Amino acid sequence: MSKIFDITDTIKYIGVDDKELDLFENQYVLKNGMSYNSYLIDDEKIVIMDTVDKRKTDKWLNNLREALNGRRPDYLVISHLEPDHSGSIGNLLKNYPEIKIISNEKVFNMLPQFIGENIENKKVIVKEGDIFNTGKHELQFIMAPMVHWPEVMMTYDKNEKILFSADAFGKFGTLDVKEDWIDEARRYYINIVGKYGMQVQTVLKKASNLNIKTICSLHGPILKDNLEYYINLYDIWSKYECEENGTLIVCGSLHGNTLDAGKKLKEMLEETGENVKLVDISRESIPDVIPLAFKYSKMIVACATYNMSIFPAINSFLNLLKEKNYQNRKIGIIENGSWAPNAANCIKNIFSQMKDIEILEPIVTVKTKLNEESYNKLNELKENLIRV
Ligand SMILES: Cc1cc2nc3c(=O)[nH]c(=O)nc-3n(C[C@H](O)[C@H](O)[C@H](O)COP(=O)(O)O)c2cc1C
Ligand SMILES: [Fe+2]
Ligand SMILES: [Fe+2]
Repeated sequence: MSKIFDITDTIKYIGVDDKELDLFENQYVLKNGMSYNSYLIDDEKIVIMDTVDKRKTDKWLNNLREALNGRRPDYLVISHLEPDHSGSIGNLLKNYPEIKIISNEKVFNMLPQFIGENIENKKVIVKEGDIFNTGKHELQFIMAPMVHWPEVMMTYDKNEKILFSADAFGKFGTLDVKEDWIDEARRYYINIVGKYGMQVQTVLKKASNLNIKTICSLHGPILKDNLEYYINLYDIWSKYECEENGTLIVCGSLHGNTLDAGKKLKEMLEETGENVKLVDISRESIPDVIPLAFKYSKMIVACATYNMSIFPAINSFLNLLKEKNYQNRKIGIIENGSWAPNAANCIKNIFSQMKDIEILEPIVTVKTKLNEESYNKLNELKENLIRV
């Protein structure tokens, strides 16, 4: 897509799709590229809502020129300074040196690091609750620190009832791709903002006082219908609640025996009608597995002992989970070892540093391969899992 289109009579989409980018933030695999959204409020004063990544400056400036149709913009609102949105500010200022910038104090404190030029005479500083009149539109500013950086601010257009939500409610994927919102939005949210559930809750409470008809995020589609669906998922994710009752089995296995034990448990659980998903951590990008752990109510970690510690990918996975504030879940452990199994101790130690984690009994120890004794333990674990 990447073409301009009308959202309302006075608000245009002027963002761009990036189909060439393979890794967002150089770490999240993009299956279908990424959109950098930007909007134009076409009022007595013409206001641009954020710029785009420098990878797409030229395309974006073309979109802007087309939307302006010979006129010049009066203001740029900056909601967030991460380079996927601030990357074209410098070029915008070169093209329209008279433009004024509306943003909060934190943005202005950091802005010189991003654009390296003096903008003292351009500043319009706003704070929580301030209203800026552009003619027919009244823009109200809502601070959203840590959703996703400290300076983030949302803007509510009181007339159109649009929330310009910064990164919130965004997803991976270009605008022209046809895919459900939920999986790519979850993967985006949990990885990018997951750690800051409390701050997201604060913003959701503020947003609940607004009459919102449309959400314009900085990534992904414009959300118009059934907004409760999206807001409810953000509420669940930011409260660290699960979306589905079910079990994720994550296996870290060198020679395949631990993976076999994980698959056996999956089979046993499925026979009881449990909702189960199994991943071999070596075959996945770790940031793709993290959101699945948040999705389900229970998780089994099956891991080989590795130099008295745990399989390195499982170590990275668990530490990343801790960093994302993973909590409030029920966990089962299957360890494997041929001479001195120690994986369970290491796994328990990492989970002990997370909040409200319940380790289910029994911990299953496999000595190289499942045998009668370890199979019986696995069966006990299955029984306990389906009970919670
Ligand atoms: C590099 C390496 C280090 C290992 N370190 C230990 C260890 O410290 N303690 C132990 O009991 N087994 C250790 N093992 C053995 C494996 O944990 C054991 O063979 C296990 O059954 C492997 O499961 P898998 O088939 O899922 O890879 C190690 C294996 C490898 C390859
Ligand atoms: Fe961001
Ligand atoms: Fe972003």
